[in-house]
Amino acid sequence: MADTQVFFDHINEGYKTKGDFITLGAAMLDGEAVTNALVKIPLKTMNRHGLIAGATGTGKTKTLQILAENLSEKGVPVLLMDMKGDLSGIAQPSPGHPKIDERHEKIGIPFEPKKFPVEILSLSEQDGVRLRATVSEFGPVLISRILGVSETQAGIISILFKYCDDNKLPLLDLKDFKKILQYSTEEGKAEIAKEYGRISPASSGAILRKIVELEQQGGDLFFGEKSFDTDDLLRVDENGMGYINIVRLTDIQDRPKLFSTFMLCLLAEVYSTFPEQGDSGRPELVIFIDEAHLIFKEASDALLDQIESIVKLIRSKGVGLYFVTQNPTDVPDAVLSQLGLKVQHALRAFTAKDRKAIKLTAENYPISEYYKTDEVLTSLGIGEALVSALNEKGIPTPLAATLLRAPMSRMDVLEDDELTDLLGESKLISKYNKELDRESAYELLNEKIETANQEEAKEKARKEKEAASRSSSGRSRSRRRRTSRSPLEKVLTSPTVIRSVLGILTKILK
Ligand SMILES: Nc1ncnc2c1ncn2[C@@H]1O[C@H](COP(=O)(O)OP(=O)(O)OP(=O)(O)O)[C@@H](O)[C@H]1O
Ligand SMILES: [Mg+2]
Repeated sequence: MADTQVFFDHINEGYKTKGDFITLGAAMLDGEAVTNALVKIPLKTMNRHGLIAGATGTGKTKTLQILAENLSEKGVPVLLMDMKGDLSGIAQPSPGHPKIDERHEKIGIPFEPKKFPVEILSLSEQDGVRLRATVSEFGPVLISRILGVSETQAGIISILFKYCDDNKLPLLDLKDFKKILQYSTEEGKAEIAKEYGRISPASSGAILRKIVELEQQGGDLFFGEKSFDTDDLLRVDENGMGYINIVRLTDIQDRPKLFSTFMLCLLAEVYSTFPEQGDSGRPELVIFIDEAHLIFKEASDALLDQIESIVKLIRSKGVGLYFVTQNPTDVPDAVLSQLGLKVQHALRAFTAKDRKAIKLTAENYPISEYYKTDEVLTSLGIGEALVSALNEKGIPTPLAATLLRAPMSRMDVLEDDELTDLLGESKLISKYNKELDRESAYELLNEKIETANQEEAKEKARKEKEAASRSSSGRSRSRRRRTSRSPLEKVLTSPTVIRSVLGILTKILK
């Protein structure tokens, strides 16, 4: 039996912070919480990313809820990827429960039911603020990675983006993208070949098939206007609480491609628009991804590379990313190696393979004289977890089996009428939920083809008339030069300026 007082001092010393922090719970010794041995996470390190892992039903989503609420309370805005639709309750206070009071008594912090400012967002036609982005904003590099095309095809995509840029043809949605592809091998073939090189129909056909695949996963809903301004994720309410933005993704489980596309787009946009952060002592935004294995599950190697590099880079913008998943091995090693906070809930040892995985997981935690990590991993109760964090100097804190606090907000979802009220209060819905289909590449190219056809018909009629008059007058062949410029040479102008993060993305995504 270890000395409780010595353990208490060990935890207090290890989790001491100078700046602001959030409290997760109390450290446990021999299976019991040591009251007031608080496990505190400095706000300053919350942009260092994290992982919440553990078997099903062990409390991962509630841990996510606790972190989100406590950040919001400190004025830090949060973005939650809610895969199972079980987080909307954050907008209502907890009804409380004797068990919760008991838990908090053991921890040594008072339990205060509280609700938090919530905005509901959606990637599809579900209720909430519509999240959309234009094809132009993605830029050719990112689009190529998302579609998983070959080098040659990626080259073609770059040419088409350049052509559209040069000719002021906005690429807003997938309809525009498909149109320019088709145009490049049909009506616009000669024009594009002259300036930019020939595009083979086989390659453009292959790209088209990839676009259709993305469309089938709902990509057509995501690409288009009005494109979401990531600054709207940074709102703080009138009481100084950070908004908790919940993206409802219950309908995306079987569409992993759309999800990884969306995540990558969001991260790239955040990276390119947020200013570089100095040492502000707190994160600007914290993003939680529940059921995170879904992003990695079907991602191509190129896409994984992209996600890994952006995870690394985004930290400097004051953005923390937290992955929530059952098994740590669901997250690529390159991402795992960058994580500052690890909250490991219980793992279950049913099979030999499970036992091996537990041993491996245990080895990835700091050694502690107070715990046999592999044994603790299988004996943790619900709402308990092994925590390892970084202190303000960036040094790992002592490993702490932790009795976690309970969420201040409701652990259950909102009722329908509560959700309706919440959506009614939204200031962003009116800004983003109008369907826009302004003049873009699709319409402009159709117009261009139409003009070309008309000119061609006129030219034909003129020639026929000439031929008729020639044969009637018997004069020699007309040497008159063609005066009408080919419509394809005309530069089409549109009032639209393509809002492009292309340059930056190209740089960071190399
Ligand atoms: N910190 C906590 N305080 C009080 N109760 C908790 C806590 N964490 C978890 N629980 C209880 O455990 C239940 C399951 O938790 P949760 O939904 O977070 O599990 P999970 O690991 O996300 O499960 P799944 O893998 O199925 O998504 C909760 O409904 C709640 O009753
Ligand atoms: Mg869960």
